[in-house]
Amino acid sequence: MSKITAAITAVGAYVPETKLTNADLEKMVDTNDEWIKTRTGISERRILREPGKATSDLGTPAVLELLRKRNLDPKDIDCIICATVTPDMLFPATANIISHNVGASNAFGFDVNAACSGFLFALTTGTSFIESGRYKKVIVVGADKMSSIVDYTDRTTCILFGDAAAAVLLEPSTDENGILDSLLKSDGVGKNYLYQKAGGSLNPASVETVLAKQHFIYQDGQPVFKFAVKGMADVSAELLERNNLTGDDIAWLVPHQANLRIIDATANRMGLPKEKVMINIQKYGNTTAATIPLCLWEWESQLKKGDNIVLAAFGGGFTWGATWVKWAYNS
Ligand code: UT7
Repeated sequence: MSKITAAITAVGAYVPETKLTNADLEKMVDTNDEWIKTRTGISERRILREPGKATSDLGTPAVLELLRKRNLDPKDIDCIICATVTPDMLFPATANIISHNVGASNAFGFDVNAACSGFLFALTTGTSFIESGRYKKVIVVGADKMSSIVDYTDRTTCILFGDAAAAVLLEPSTDENGILDSLLKSDGVGKNYLYQKAGGSLNPASVETVLAKQHFIYQDGQPVFKFAVKGMADVSAELLERNNLTGDDIAWLVPHQANLRIIDATANRMGLPKEKVMINIQKYGNTTAATIPLCLWEWESQLKKGDNIVLAAFGGGFTWGATWVKWAYNS
């Protein structure tokens, strides 16, 4: 009997309509379009502005689109995993709220917190569920309302992030397409460089934590940049090497969209020309867990069955990883 792999068989996404451009940010903090574009590659991001809307309001339409595209009954979904660092609430899990919203009443769900690598960590978890033979339809959604934890008076972080969600469906396959290998890493040394200080058990919310702005993202950009360049490039190169692949075998690199310079360094290390690299950071900024599936969604019509694709991420924690996917369908 041939081995069961977990294949991505559908993609859905949702980006809010409101755009926050570099020109808008110039009016809010001491920055300029040229600095932002040169240092990050970002021109604009999307923001979920409506009051009372949360990460599940990004994830829900992304999952609904995926279900619609495949004409699926939500009751047939076994599991929904949501990668996020901006859950609607600390508990219950945002995955449960999305399941309820889309009518996936037979699915169990949980959230994965691995920051910008969250999608890869959740995808690898979902893959194991499928490979084990226990589940047949698993949805992995990366969703983040980053605007809920961005301090729009801090020019070092507010220019970077945007809101979005994107989801993939995993199903069993026996034709050797699907998620073929994953290399995931984490190192707690990162906890002091990129984090949200308060709101957890270490520093529960209080008047003091709010006044000290400790519920926003804090990032020490330069060290994170250095770790990210090395981490994402190393892990991608290692993934290729252990599967006897070279840049020539790869149709697409799908990098986490944190900074164009980190993306370029990873592509160079893998020996890939720019035409093989999915880049949409200019339109959406860093949407944390959503960046990678959002790229797959945008490029879906160009992907061909059998294409070798490498997904690569680096994020807070630190967390990082790379995943080898053989694309399973022509759309
Ligand atoms: O996705 C999760 C993982 N995160 C990442 O991968 C992000 C990694 N880090 C980065 O991408 C970069 O470090 C940043 C884009 C965040 C910053 O770029 P940088 O080239 O490392 O800039 P910097 O922090 O070294 O700052 C250079 C200068 C500083 O001024 P001085 O000290 O040289 O006078 C900053 O104060 O640029 C200043 N600066 C700004 N100027 C205009 C910082 N932010 C801004 C801004 N506009 N928005």
